[in-house]
Amino acid sequence: MTFKSKIKTIEWIDNCSKMIDQTILPNEFKTVDIKTSDEMYFAIKNMIVRGAPAIGIAGAHGMALAAIELEKNTSKKEEFIRKLEERADFIKSSRPTAVNLMWAVDKQMKLAKEIQGSIKEITQAIIENGIKLENEDIEINKRMGDFGAEVVPIGAGILTHCNAGALATVGYGTALGVIRSAFAKDPSIKVFADETRPRQQGARLTTWELTQDGIPTTLITDGMCSYFMSKGLIDMVVVGADRIAANGDTANKIGTYTVAIAAKYHNIPFYIAAPLSTIDISIKTGKEIPIEERSHDEVTHINDDWICAKNVNIINPGFDVTPNELITGIITEKGILKPNFTDSIKKVFEK
Ligand code: MRU
Repeated sequence: MTFKSKIKTIEWIDNCSKMIDQTILPNEFKTVDIKTSDEMYFAIKNMIVRGAPAIGIAGAHGMALAAIELEKNTSKKEEFIRKLEERADFIKSSRPTAVNLMWAVDKQMKLAKEIQGSIKEITQAIIENGIKLENEDIEINKRMGDFGAEVVPIGAGILTHCNAGALATVGYGTALGVIRSAFAKDPSIKVFADETRPRQQGARLTTWELTQDGIPTTLITDGMCSYFMSKGLIDMVVVGADRIAANGDTANKIGTYTVAIAAKYHNIPFYIAAPLSTIDISIKTGKEIPIEERSHDEVTHINDDWICAKNVNIINPGFDVTPNELITGIITEKGILKPNFTDSIKKVFEK
């Protein structure tokens, strides 16, 4: 049973990629038109678009923009492919952790190499494939949502971290897709949204999108999660993922690991909701996942004001890795994967 949600985060319209500017939510709602592959690189890097599946689609659109640019000034197919490959590497270098970006850009590049036609035909095929991936993303999220809703207890208090919602995808969301589908079946569920320091995706984005949809949501700061778990208010945790290793170790927004440890201590099920495109079977464990180091300003400043001593040391990893033994299940579009994840992940890719 799916829920009707209106938010569309990114959309290919008239040869440009239209996206919600997530840097100014919740105070302002504005869309921006990304017209070049350079603009797409900066939109991803500066988090105008963010969230693993959404930046995957942004990467696919970025490749379509690159092909349109190259089609105008390249006459030889070999040169077109070589330059497109350079653009692919450039777009993929915008953010390192979410593997959906590499997945989508590589898919576009593979298609470009396979097409036997002219440069024009290759460009058209890349554009169409970007639109296809965009539409598939929503369908995948709805399927994931329906699988996930099966494990949500009646009247559950559900904790989520960061924003794994419609805004982190083309629409509907992964973790918040599970919440949307659960809410459609049982309007008595309640959501606890971690603020998610330092960029506050939980406060700025998750509360915005869930309250738009009328889903009861309470904002808490990151350090409060164990307290509410100990009070019996949290019945399950569901979060998204940026990259899942072949053994189930999962990179997600910094702070997720702490939530998983707290959930284990309190005997609360901890679920990951992510499409198969987030699983990187080329890496055996989470130790191999590259972790993005973000600007120190995110930690030293709130709303342009310094909040700490000016000469203090800063370190700001954007993600952490939750070890597989803390994860109850990985909700995917093909069902819920259970431990042992090495086996269940292998099996789902063999299907
Ligand atoms: O730095 P962000 O905002 O791109 O990080 C987003 C997350 O960590 C999400 O939880 C993850 O991408 C899953 S989104 C469906």
